[in-house]
Amino acid sequence: MKKVYSKILEKALLYYEKGRPRDIEHIKWLVETIPKFIDKSEVDFDILMPVVILHDVGYSKVEKGTDFFKLDIRKFHSEEGAKIAGKILNELGYPQDKIKEIKRLICKHDNWAFGDSFEDEPILRIFNNFDFMWVVSQIGFKVYASFLKANPEETIRNIEESEKTNIKDGRKWFNKKIENYYKELMEERKREI
Ligand SMILES: [Fe+2]
Ligand SMILES: [Fe+2]
Repeated sequence: MKKVYSKILEKALLYYEKGRPRDIEHIKWLVETIPKFIDKSEVDFDILMPVVILHDVGYSKVEKGTDFFKLDIRKFHSEEGAKIAGKILNELGYPQDKIKEIKRLICKHDNWAFGDSFEDEPILRIFNNFDFMWVVSQIGFKVYASFLKANPEETIRNIEESEKTNIKDGRKWFNKKIENYYKELMEERKREI
């Protein structure tokens, strides 16, 4: 990983410690996994990686015990996250044009919940693919099941329903390799039941 991304992550972790439980594992999984599936010629990694690392730092400003899935909280944590991202990136002397774009994308990273399919936003499509896929990763599945208070079978059914909603709402897999990895992880989780 590029040195500057590690520095961003280091600063971001201080906020994630005050954010949602288990977000640190979520972010680390995204940071490790995404570069394996995206070619550097496809999108600007200097935008993609900071967006991935910083997208949920805004939860550090949300009171404990809040329903994180409420629409106003989705909007609030995105806006607060963009502000914190700006602060962190400015401290690191990151290029201004990139900071502006990263803040714009963090501001709308959760807009899929408001019906945005990210058709014209490749970085958000990639990000959103993996943000969703986290729930079929080994740790993410356990985190999600305990959040749902569901057993593994019910959790699988819930994820399969969400995947159908994604397709219905036009949220496509960015490439075949990503889609196949999702299927592979899902098979792994099913085998573990
Ligand atoms: Fe978020
Ligand atoms: Fe996320």
